Amino acid sequence: MTEAATILFEERQIRRRVAELGDAITQDYAGRSPVLISVLKGGAIFLADLIRCIDLPVRMDFMSISSYGGGTKASGVVRILKDLDQDIGGEDVVVVEDIIDTGLTLSYLLSTLVAREPASLAVCTLLDKSARRIPPLEIRYRGFDCPDRFVVGYGLDHEERFRNLPMILAVESQAKLAEDPSVLVPFLTAGDRQPPSPAAPDRA
Ligand code: IMP
Repeated sequence: MTEAATILFEERQIRRRVAELGDAITQDYAGRSPVLISVLKGGAIFLADLIRCIDLPVRMDFMSISSYGGGTKASGVVRILKDLDQDIGGEDVVVVEDIIDTGLTLSYLLSTLVAREPASLAVCTLLDKSARRIPPLEIRYRGFDCPDRFVVGYGLDHEERFRNLPMILAVESQAKLAEDPSVLVPFLTAGDRQPPSPAAPDRA
């Protein structure tokens, strides 16, 4: 029987790459306090890990968007369900994405952010499905190039599930997954989580 999915990026590999991206951002924005913006929900997992690898007084903010139904998907036009809490005018902004596929959504989002006149605007994505790109996009920070496969884990979902997988999986058959989403459950316990170290003596 074929596996329901294969591991594309291991937990350890992701951790190492996220640390490298954090180092690059720390160097590039030295002396500044960039605002890291994540698009809910997938990007939140990556953002949470990334900011802890950046040695700067960064700020974070979130947006939530939804695609319009009908024929507008190809334009990437989205409706903003939750806007940023802060004004980004004059700020150094880094948009943090879990995955860029066609890039249509991000391209539209960037145009709305540019209109707010940030001092600078850069993109950081963990995964880049570059083969599917439609509009040209400048991606300053890229974790991994991603094959044209449906992937889940580390923030990426299948019908809201499996965002909590510690690794990133390439699904073998989306039809089979749709039929029985539980086929990926065994991967939930397949991470390399370390057992907790012995408790430090209580200094209270
Ligand atoms: P784009 O506008 O085509 O770039 O769409 C990007 C969005 O599609 C991402 O933010 C994800 O929410 C979703 N997406 C694209 N590819 C995948 C995938 O392989 N797994 C899960 N979500 C995906």
